[in-house]
Amino acid sequence: MLSVAERLAARARHLAPSPIRELMPYLSLPGMISLGGGYPNPETFAFLRMDVTFRSGREIAITGARMARAAQYGPTPAHKELGQAILKWQQYKDGVTLTDDQLVVLNGSQEGIFIAAYLFLDEADWIVAAEPLYPGTASAVGAFCRAIRTVSIDGDGLRIDELAALLEEARTRGEAPPKFVYDVPSGHNPAGTTLSLQRRMQLLDLARRHDFLIIEDDPYQLVSLEGGQRLPTLQALEGNPERVIRLDSFSKIFAPGLRVGYATGSSAIMRQFVLFKQCANLHTSMTAQEMLAAFIESHGFDGFMRLIEDNCRFYRANRDAMVEAAREHLPGDVAFNVPRHGMFMWFELPTGFDADRMIRSDAEDLMVLLVPGSAFAVSRSLAHCMRASFSMVSPGEITEGMRRFATMIERERERCSAK
Ligand SMILES: Cc1ncc(COP(=O)(O)O)c(C=O)c1O
Repeated sequence: MLSVAERLAARARHLAPSPIRELMPYLSLPGMISLGGGYPNPETFAFLRMDVTFRSGREIAITGARMARAAQYGPTPAHKELGQAILKWQQYKDGVTLTDDQLVVLNGSQEGIFIAAYLFLDEADWIVAAEPLYPGTASAVGAFCRAIRTVSIDGDGLRIDELAALLEEARTRGEAPPKFVYDVPSGHNPAGTTLSLQRRMQLLDLARRHDFLIIEDDPYQLVSLEGGQRLPTLQALEGNPERVIRLDSFSKIFAPGLRVGYATGSSAIMRQFVLFKQCANLHTSMTAQEMLAAFIESHGFDGFMRLIEDNCRFYRANRDAMVEAAREHLPGDVAFNVPRHGMFMWFELPTGFDADRMIRSDAEDLMVLLVPGSAFAVSRSLAHCMRASFSMVSPGEITEGMRRFATMIERERERCSAK
């Protein structure tokens, strides 16, 4: 297995620690009189206290030293209490034990995708991802290398047989393996699929055999629409922390505007994440981390999980409404999967349909909007596909929206047959 240093892109080989940030651990030593650092004095801060009422009805007050800490600069890897809570959370939800140098709190998981691309991708490198692909990943990766090779997706997620063939072809041609394989294993955005247990194990097997990293981008893991037992994460299935960089997010289960997600992986890789953040943004907002830490402290993990499950019931009702309306109103030649996680349904319309044209021609007239497949295309045309999200609308609006979508489809069918 290659070392982390051997995998790094040229630009990341010389990331140097911030000499001032590296002194931070000394600050917390009892009795230390610090004449270092360039922190503004908390007495000058605009905030005195924050009173927060959570939807659960619980209230917290962030005051005094805690408020000063929330408004102050903080450590790059994590807010101390939140970092400790996240390590326990990873154990609680996934059964994975990590040390504090294996965690970096991020500005959402999006930052993690960008950092992974920054750290590992040289211009000549390649990665593999399933197509359709979340555009946030396409653009983060595209900033550093042009080669995203794709495999397709079916009801069980990323097609492992296609991935195996792709890797074997590359090996036969004498090419280096991909730097990483990126996947969204639960509630894939936009395909809505969840990677089966068997495929998770097969993916790890291929990663070991061909020696590539896996970016496990899993913001919809806990947005479970079926309940039941959670599938083990790739990180949990893989004993070696060097192999999987896991990205978790609080966006879909807490509040996206807070911009809090986190990366976990080997300490050597997380050290590189820290070095990146030291030069890019110092750390993730302490105010946001303090609020999340206070929420977890006041609700406990069981309480947090109960709230997440309540939210899932809400999303499940919407998912059910969309599936039912799709079955009732859409023509038989429109294919879709029933998502078990996440917020999306992916529709495949007959070949020749042009989703961009459908939106241009009819979205305003019919007052219904979906995202054309081209937004998620990398290597082939997904012009005949559309993504629908069921998160922001009521079941009634979903039913009406699907009816209007059916009309949009019939109009496009007429356009296609008139050609
Ligand atoms: C697959 C996927 N990854 C990452 C993100 C970014 O999430 P965050 O808000 O945690 O940055 C999203 C957001 O929609 C997403 O769908």
